[in-house]
Amino acid sequence: MSSSPHLILIGLMGSGKSSVGALCARQLKRVFIDTDETIVTNTKTSISELFDSGEESFRELERDAVAQACATITPAVIACGGGAVVDPMSRDLIQSSGTVAWLQADPEELERRIGDTTARPLLAGADPKQVLAKLALERDGLYEKAANFRVDTHGLTVTEVADAVIQEYTQCRA
Ligand code: S3P
Repeated sequence: MSSSPHLILIGLMGSGKSSVGALCARQLKRVFIDTDETIVTNTKTSISELFDSGEESFRELERDAVAQACATITPAVIACGGGAVVDPMSRDLIQSSGTVAWLQADPEELERRIGDTTARPLLAGADPKQVLAKLALERDGLYEKAANFRVDTHGLTVTEVADAVIQEYTQCRA
């Protein structure tokens, strides 16, 4: 495990990284960084519009956002976009910059939590459950490899997931 104390959340869209991350940050009295928000702030462009220029260029912007977040001097809680692990450089940075929590849920629950898919270009115009199932097949191995621990979020509230994450994180750092 990395000696850097960031708590980094990974997992598919809808797994709760942003809401759980914000709550963990509040409980740990840390800064919360959401890499999607960093990308939007850096580019002054929405994620959907950025995807119009192709996924590859989005992953490059995401790599910069992950690097910016991981370079934060004080220990932070960082929520990464669901596809950050697909890029080898982002993945290496994530693994080497902190303790990594993988939030997991099945495609049905992810779809239910996401609701409106308009802000998620990979899901817009498709059957979200099918896309999420395909992404899980492609990415679960990457999430597993990058993570120090996994939290099965099925049926849990945001508060329950945050508590489980903090408990595991504390154990990892003991
Ligand atoms: C993506 C996940 C999104 C966002 C973009 C691509 C993905 O972030 O980065 O739409 O490839 O899974 P969230 O996981 O925060 O929704």
